[in-house]
Amino acid sequence: MINQIIDRRELAPAVTLLEVVAPRIQRRWKAGQFVIVRPTDHSERIPLTIMDSSPERQSISMVVQAVGKTTQETVALQCGEAFADLAGPLGEPATIPAGKRVVCLAGGVGVAELLPVARAYRDAGNQVIVLCGARSNEYRILDTELRAGAGPVHWATDDGSFGFHGNVVALLKTLAGPGAFDEGHVIGPIPMMKAAADATRDWHLKLYASLNPVMIDGTGMCGGCRVTVGDSVKFACVDGPEFDAHRVDFDELARRNGAYRTHERLALEHGNGCRIGLDVR
Ligand SMILES: Cc1cc2nc3c(=O)[nH]c(=O)nc-3n(C[C@H](O)[C@H](O)[C@H](O)COP(=O)(O)OP(=O)(O)OC[C@H]3O[C@@H](n4cnc5c(N)ncnc54)[C@H](O)[C@@H]3O)c2cc1C
Ligand code: FES
Repeated sequence: MINQIIDRRELAPAVTLLEVVAPRIQRRWKAGQFVIVRPTDHSERIPLTIMDSSPERQSISMVVQAVGKTTQETVALQCGEAFADLAGPLGEPATIPAGKRVVCLAGGVGVAELLPVARAYRDAGNQVIVLCGARSNEYRILDTELRAGAGPVHWATDDGSFGFHGNVVALLKTLAGPGAFDEGHVIGPIPMMKAAADATRDWHLKLYASLNPVMIDGTGMCGGCRVTVGDSVKFACVDGPEFDAHRVDFDELARRNGAYRTHERLALEHGNGCRIGLDVR
């Protein structure tokens, strides 16, 4: 049955892999693209990156971190249940060059979002190194899949329980410097992507960031995902989500993503949030 969940696994605390039957999306998606889901008839729409797919099962997989009301409703779905809506693939595929030295950086659930992009880099003949950050050892996800599909993986944990003690950008700075890589890709929390951009500004490196603004329609109509890149206004759902990290206004992105914090908390506590109509300058 279309939209039905056929596999569900906990990868780490509050991080769940969901595999769902979606034949048309499975045939068309490319690394870097996402879907917009509504887990139940009463839910908001949220974007989730497509992590993997299976032609045999005509399915796609996503990894979801439960951070608020809708992600909690999403991970509550069990095998045999179906999403109320599942739309995609959305967004532009990631830019994948060939024959380059590439560093891939991810933090938190961004590790799952990075996996298809890192694989695509390797499949296109790039030399790939992957640096991942997690809160602690128990929050590390998809290490085996990254090693098998992309290349060497180095971990940083905030508490030092595995790998480098510190954050993933500090790890990058200990391992490499200007001229070490031709290209890079970063996915994770906004402060981490901003730090990666700042750290590599003088490295002669083209760094792409996969941005995570609030999205509503995912089709370029509502303006919710507006971001500033250099002198241009872009809509991450149709122009992105990948942009030149050295030109993104991360402070504005953080401000806009924080605009709904009170409503998000109320939605979680009382189950009645409403985003539309709020001021997000
Ligand atoms: C293109 C794209 C792809 C994404 N892919 C994934 C994915 O594969 N897996 C995954 O778990 N999440 C992904 N996200 C983030 C996910 O969509 C949000 O976590 C979700 O919308 C939060 O909804 P909520 O109702 O559960 O929480 P809310 O109540 O809306 O928010 C709870 C907390 O999460 C933060 N938050 C809200 N929206 C976002 C956001 N867009 N990014 C980061 N933090 C946010 C809020 O600031 C708040 O602190 C993606 C976002 C984008 C834009
Ligand atoms: S989500 Fe509405 S314009 Fe991008």
